[in-house]
Amino acid sequence: MKGILLAGGSGTRLYPITLAVNKHLLPIYNKLMIYYSLSLLMLAGIRDIALVVNPHEKDMFKYLFKNAEALQLNLNYVEQDKPLGLSHAIMKACECPGFKDSPLMVVLGDNILYGHTLPITLEKAKEHLMKKGGAYVFAYHVPDPHRYGTVEFDQDGRVLSIEEKPEHPKSNYAIIGVYMFDATVSEKVKKVKLSHRGEYEITSLLEEYLKEGTLKVSLLGRGFAWFDAGTHDSLLEAGEFVATIERRTGLMIACIEEIAFRNGWIDKDTLLKIAKSLSKTGYGKYLKKLAEE
Ligand code: G1P
Repeated sequence: MKGILLAGGSGTRLYPITLAVNKHLLPIYNKLMIYYSLSLLMLAGIRDIALVVNPHEKDMFKYLFKNAEALQLNLNYVEQDKPLGLSHAIMKACECPGFKDSPLMVVLGDNILYGHTLPITLEKAKEHLMKKGGAYVFAYHVPDPHRYGTVEFDQDGRVLSIEEKPEHPKSNYAIIGVYMFDATVSEKVKKVKLSHRGEYEITSLLEEYLKEGTLKVSLLGRGFAWFDAGTHDSLLEAGEFVATIERRTGLMIACIEEIAFRNGWIDKDTLLKIAKSLSKTGYGKYLKKLAEE
């Protein structure tokens, strides 16, 4: 399975802080926002990743991830020249060598997901998808479903409908920005039509799978915390949440070097080398302690 990380867009809902800086490069406590979504792909064991960015910001992301190879990550940079929506971005990413015929995990660069069973949950989803195909997504109970793509179920938990930012949501379940698709996604995404918002929506792609009867929606229960850090309040809330958990446990959330180390992708010496370059910070000290444990 290959990964797509979506980090384009104009971040208008975060103006003026995103006037000059890409949203995904803003801090969530002690890390960049994009670390949280990248870590989800890494936790699912994915190393081949297409990073979709705005053309004028490509060099910034390349600079940020200049040492990605040291973490054993293979990043392909894909330019999305127009803000035509998430399905459009996926279509662009499918042009990367080897992506067209591969199952894909797609993560939106502003999604932060935390939970004790997260690695197992992702692993199970991946296993289901590799065996049965289709699309696999996660739904989360929220108080403000109109802000998201929403999903409606019947009494037996079967999906009845999916809607993008509905005025009158039929349920309180939002579809979070973490999706898994089988290899037919590169064909299905071409069928997506422009919405009334002028975008190729991700929910329209999910509807293609729903029509085919191969869309699986898994509920994330109370043991999970999910944030979409796309507004001023959610950005602050996500940062406060991460700070609280990290201070209390002494363990980091979404530390990409730690995940690479625990996945067995990098050895102790590489971790120590990275730690040394960050030695003045708590982040560097954390990596050093990890290597020495
Ligand atoms: C996007 C998707 C929406 C999804 C949400 C999750 O919305 O279009 O379906 O529920 O991400 O973060 P956006 O936040 O880009 O407006």
